[in-house]
Amino acid sequence: MPGDIGAASLVPEVEAETTMNTVATDEYDAFASDYHFLYSDRVLSGARFLEGYAEVLQSLPPRARILDCACGIGVHSLALARRGYDVRGTDASAGMIAEARRRAALEGLEVEFARCSWADLPKTFGRPFDLVFCYGNAIGHCRTPEEIVASLCGMRAVLKPGGVLAIDSLNWEKARRERVRFCPMPMRVRDGSRCLPLYVWNFPPRWQDPHLIEVVLLFQEETRTHHRSYPITYYPFHYQDLVIRLRGAGFQEVQSDFDDAKDNYTVIARTDNNSVQEPRAQRP
Ligand SMILES: C[S@@+](CC[C@H](N)C(=O)[O-])C[C@H]1O[C@@H](n2cnc3c(N)ncnc32)[C@H](O)[C@@H]1O
Repeated sequence: MPGDIGAASLVPEVEAETTMNTVATDEYDAFASDYHFLYSDRVLSGARFLEGYAEVLQSLPPRARILDCACGIGVHSLALARRGYDVRGTDASAGMIAEARRRAALEGLEVEFARCSWADLPKTFGRPFDLVFCYGNAIGHCRTPEEIVASLCGMRAVLKPGGVLAIDSLNWEKARRERVRFCPMPMRVRDGSRCLPLYVWNFPPRWQDPHLIEVVLLFQEETRTHHRSYPITYYPFHYQDLVIRLRGAGFQEVQSDFDDAKDNYTVIARTDNNSVQEPRAQRP
């Protein structure tokens, strides 16, 4: 683990509640209605997510209040709601939120979804959460170290004292070391459409430059194929820098399963048991 450094030096000049328009938001608006083609059936059902977080979920009370703050099309929020948790889902992309609401309505599940960037979370929620998820390599959309800290501050501000933040990230060290550019995924069959997803990665020489991924969905029909493609931009960071920024944002205890050889890792960060929450809004 890296050494601890003072929080003050990491907190950006921008107040945590400042709205940030991310490039990623526009990119995901267009992608929302096709996004489910990326998931396997097991991921789409939420089973993989619930198993992966079984330990942290077991430590919560049965009706714990959980925020899925990069909810995308809502797959993981809905899986948590089916388990009986009191769930809210937020995302900066209006398209993703619309798709999440549509999926909740299809199942008759009452999950509130709201468009909200991470830095704006304290303005949106008055009652704090037991657990906040930032899942699916979402944090890699922050463009600068300052934006990461402002986002983590936003997540921390909506947690109860002793609350938990769970972040899932790509292992950027491994991805940039290996530079595998073409990553085909297994064929998906959804609502009669056969789709072959392919990730095309670009790795510029410098870490701090935008990393563009082209997600290509190749659709196979009876006599022809056609494709749709979506650009997604990421800003890689070192694992150890994420840990430092979590501490800078006020998280006391930071654990992870980071491993040089693994493609992804999870970070579990806890707020201090005695930390005082000052919600800025009195919304439910
Ligand atoms: C890779 S997707 C992951 C979605 C979902 N968690 C999953 O695992 O499928 C990243 C999501 O983060 C959202 N996002 C990016 N920047 C954000 C921000 N600053 N605040 C809130 N959401 C953001 C995007 O709109 C997108 O839905």
